[in-house]
Amino acid sequence: MQKIIILDFGSQTTQLIGRRVRELDTFCEILPYNKFPNNDPSVIGVILSGSPYSVHDKEAFQVDLKQFVGKIPVLGICYGAQYISHKNGGKVEQTGTREYGRANLSTIDLNNSLFKGFHENSQVWMSHGDTITAIPGNCKTIASTSDVKYAAYASEENRLWAVQFHPEVYHSLEGKTLLKNFVVDICGSKQEWSAASYVETTVRQLRERIGNDRVILGLSGGVDSSVCATLLNKAIGKNLTCIFVDHGMLRKNEFSKVMKAYEGLGLNVIGVDASEKFFQDLKGVTDPEKKRKIIGRDFVEVFNAEAKKITDAKWLAQGTIYPDRIESLSITGMVIKSHHNVGGLPKDMHLQLCEPLKWLFKDEVRRVGYELGMPERLIKRHPFPGPGLAVRILGDITREKVRILQEADDIYIENMHNYVCEDGKVLYDKVWQAGTVLLSTIRSVGVMGDERTYEHPVALRAVTSTDAMTADWAHLPYDFLAKVSNEIINKVKGVNRVCYDISSKPPSTIEWE
Ligand code: XMP
Repeated sequence: MQKIIILDFGSQTTQLIGRRVRELDTFCEILPYNKFPNNDPSVIGVILSGSPYSVHDKEAFQVDLKQFVGKIPVLGICYGAQYISHKNGGKVEQTGTREYGRANLSTIDLNNSLFKGFHENSQVWMSHGDTITAIPGNCKTIASTSDVKYAAYASEENRLWAVQFHPEVYHSLEGKTLLKNFVVDICGSKQEWSAASYVETTVRQLRERIGNDRVILGLSGGVDSSVCATLLNKAIGKNLTCIFVDHGMLRKNEFSKVMKAYEGLGLNVIGVDASEKFFQDLKGVTDPEKKRKIIGRDFVEVFNAEAKKITDAKWLAQGTIYPDRIESLSITGMVIKSHHNVGGLPKDMHLQLCEPLKWLFKDEVRRVGYELGMPERLIKRHPFPGPGLAVRILGDITREKVRILQEADDIYIENMHNYVCEDGKVLYDKVWQAGTVLLSTIRSVGVMGDERTYEHPVALRAVTSTDAMTADWAHLPYDFLAKVSNEIINKVKGVNRVCYDISSKPPSTIEWE
């Protein structure tokens, strides 16, 4: 399949370039700046990302441009544009004309293939300290702003384009057009990347790779592991054994509901109720980090004990997705992180790793889920932390506290599923993640009928986000909050007050613990 290579020089927006290319139904890989795959005939173009460095910094990332310039189309963005200029007889300087934020292309060569469909004075997003003050001899200027003469330059004969601004960010209003011009018109993408083609190719490859071997997969009830299981099930059927561990801190009836959904999908799932062990080991523990460690450790123990019963297993499948890997494959050289909800391979089993979603972004995982005919409710589920409600109960954990929280949370989430907003969308689908927190270290006074109560508050949390790295508190409608609050206080014994958490991340986190 055709692909675009995005060489990552460490910019915060590199992933976004990847997203934009995928939105053009074109496969792309984000690779460290020095890992261009020579001799790969499926590569139809290269994009060089921005960077936190100046080309003059000692530590600045270097790449041998001869590997691709003049051979396939190249687009340099920000640092990429500066680097190409710097290495080819142009000049990059600290001139004092730093540009951050919106700018307009006051001159623009509308005949250049990169700007097809652009409008005069197009708004772009700039973020650079250094400025290109001379471009390579064989290039010509194709756009300028009032402050920056070389906002974009090109050498059509070398199929080389370079832009000082960031077309991948939303504030570059015609950035998508620019990327489409590059990827589709200039590089010649056939736009063949789709969920259907992904399923077809991946199923074929999985069959070839795995053959008749047995595969184990840890299910969490979340989107990634569920889609991963369904994809593998399509490829190898009964040779896939899934393990779903119930640590007792899932949402109300979640274990049974999800098990049922999995059965409906024809998956071979072993459900393990290990809640007693988790509650025992968590008894009296109040420190958030200790709770997390205990749950992580117990999870590995329970999962591995089950996995070992499948003595002929050769593979461990994981629902790792692309953003997890980009973080870890990044040029800082960190190792690949293990899946939160599996916690590591049983080493003595000598299993090979299989990660069929490792090229997909979250929304693409969902598209694959739809393609596989999975139930919408499973595909659209909000993320849920591996340690579950344990990180949403302040203080120590007991079965009774979990039950109270499950009841309150169920009212909150079900109401969210049932609330249709003015724009016709369901509230649950407009929120990245929502959950309830039991403030069980706090009591407050209330009155119910003629009786004084002295019980716990709950905090409702809902955030909007694109990747959970940053998040804003969601502006939920007042009438919705009023209904949920009433229902929780009236129906859930043990709760007499409801608060709404209006903190963003950073400085807060999404989970309370
Ligand atoms: P924070 O609280 O760090 O959470 O803002 C960011 C996202 O990660 C989820 N989360 C976890 N997911 N295992 C997981 O699988 C964990 O231990 C864990 N802790 C937090 C959280 O729900 C949010 O989506």
